[in-house]
Amino acid sequence: MSLTPIGGRPEDELRRKITTASLREQKLRHEPITCLTAYDYATARLVDEAGIEMILVGDSLAQAMLGYENTLSVTMDEMLHHVKAVRRGVKHALLLADMPYGSYQINPKTALRNATRFVKEGGAEVVKIEGGEKRAELIRRIIDAEIPVAGHIGLTPQSVNVMGGYKVQGKELSGIEQLMRDAVALDRAGVACIVLEGIPREVAAMITAEVSTPTIGIGAGPECDGQVLVIHDLLNLTFGPPAKFVRRYGDAAALITNAVQAFRADVKSLQYPADEESYHLPRETRAGLETVLARKRTMRR
Ligand code: KIV
Repeated sequence: MSLTPIGGRPEDELRRKITTASLREQKLRHEPITCLTAYDYATARLVDEAGIEMILVGDSLAQAMLGYENTLSVTMDEMLHHVKAVRRGVKHALLLADMPYGSYQINPKTALRNATRFVKEGGAEVVKIEGGEKRAELIRRIIDAEIPVAGHIGLTPQSVNVMGGYKVQGKELSGIEQLMRDAVALDRAGVACIVLEGIPREVAAMITAEVSTPTIGIGAGPECDGQVLVIHDLLNLTFGPPAKFVRRYGDAAALITNAVQAFRADVKSLQYPADEESYHLPRETRAGLETVLARKRTMRR
């Protein structure tokens, strides 16, 4: 396997490192912010080299990469393993790591320890925490420890059992008011960005206009300051019908299936490997080997 070292291309040097400050500048300039998930080195490299500003090692890794039913099962250690791999592939994008369920809900001390692990061991630059108003105090403590935090409100997958399923949030007045309070609390706590997931476009637009923090939408309409998608959704690697907000930009499932089937067919029909895909002995070794084999045949007679 050959992969050239990261940063080997001249155009890489011209790109600016994305920071939490540059995200705010983008919001002020009304320049849309792009964010995608990545869970491994190769994908992270491709996403980074394509110019995406934020790369999130989301806890969606639970379903997308590990085949769990929901995000609740994934552990800190599993997340950290993938954050480290992604770190090795990212040069310019801002790297976010998702705090998995159970890593910050128990008490602030555990939360702080786990956030610190993502930075110290994983090389993450921002940690993401689900929840609004009720997490504001914890988020302040983590920011006090010099760790930037991304908020995440609306449809928060770690609350699936409380929400009774993956349902669009903020469809009624009381829900809208709560979302506004959540967004303002996160804004005041000083988060680096706020992910708005699964909320009506009109509500996301109101929040985006209200807060100075960049909002990153997923199923929250086009008025957000940026958009995030799970890369497996974008590439058709999810084995099921996509959610309403997903746009498929490629068909990796078809690409992989076709390539694997072609490989299988070639091996079965002895078409692979061809002679030019095989290593050969040097001429002198081959001549020597032929002499040895000829001698053995003579002795056997
Ligand atoms: O885990 C994840 O991928 C996320 C995004 C959907 C924002 O939280």
